[in-house]
Amino acid sequence: MKGVVLAGGLGSRLYPLTKITNKHLLPVFDKPMIYYPIQCLVNAGITDILIVTGGNSAGHFLQLLRNGSDFGLKRLNYAYQEGEGGIADALRLAESFADGEEICVVLGDNIIESNIKRAVDDFRVQCEAGGGGAKILLKEVHDPERFGVATVKDGKVLKIVEKPKAPETNLAVIGIYLYDAAVFDITRTLKPSARGELEITDVNNEYLRRGQLTSDVLNGWWTDAGTFESLYRASTLVREGGANRMDV
Ligand code: G1P
Repeated sequence: MKGVVLAGGLGSRLYPLTKITNKHLLPVFDKPMIYYPIQCLVNAGITDILIVTGGNSAGHFLQLLRNGSDFGLKRLNYAYQEGEGGIADALRLAESFADGEEICVVLGDNIIESNIKRAVDDFRVQCEAGGGGAKILLKEVHDPERFGVATVKDGKVLKIVEKPKAPETNLAVIGIYLYDAAVFDITRTLKPSARGELEITDVNNEYLRRGQLTSDVLNGWWTDAGTFESLYRASTLVREGGANRMDV
């Protein structure tokens, strides 16, 4: 399995912090934000990693991460996203990198306390059994209207709604996704949403429609870091107990 970290976007919710740099280079306690999603993949045994970024400060990722030696990697791969087409648009740039293999996609501003080893192993089994498809991770939150929200019954996802005004549940779809190679065909069928982006929730709902979507609930805390409040919270959580732990 290969890993993809999506680190593009304007980061407009963090303006002016993101006026001259990319959101994913901002500090989360003692490390640049992008370190956390990379470590998350490495901890799950995924060492072939693509960073998708864009904008003016894209070159800084190469200067910062170089060949990935801080993570014990021999090399990293990079792709450049033109424009602001959204998460599913950025994902399209990973097609030749994935080269038919399954991928684990991590949004560059998502940070977790624990690890995704169990979900990755379960997804491997799902694929080897011939099922393929996709797997998403869920976490209970107090502000579900900020996220993709899943309605789940008897452990099965029934639907996912992106940023619902009146959420049916408090189960957020976190920004860590496992996909088989069909994901790239799916991204080609998407239409831009009201915010003008290709939505990852539409990708997940297509797998759901095909009966190929499984889910798991994440252990430990999860936060994004794309708003002032969540960036602050992320730093506090990392400072208090650390992220990407193998013992949680
Ligand atoms: C994105 C996804 C959303 C998901 C969230 C996780 O939201 O669209 O479904 O719950 O990431 O961080 P965005 O950060 O683009 O608002």
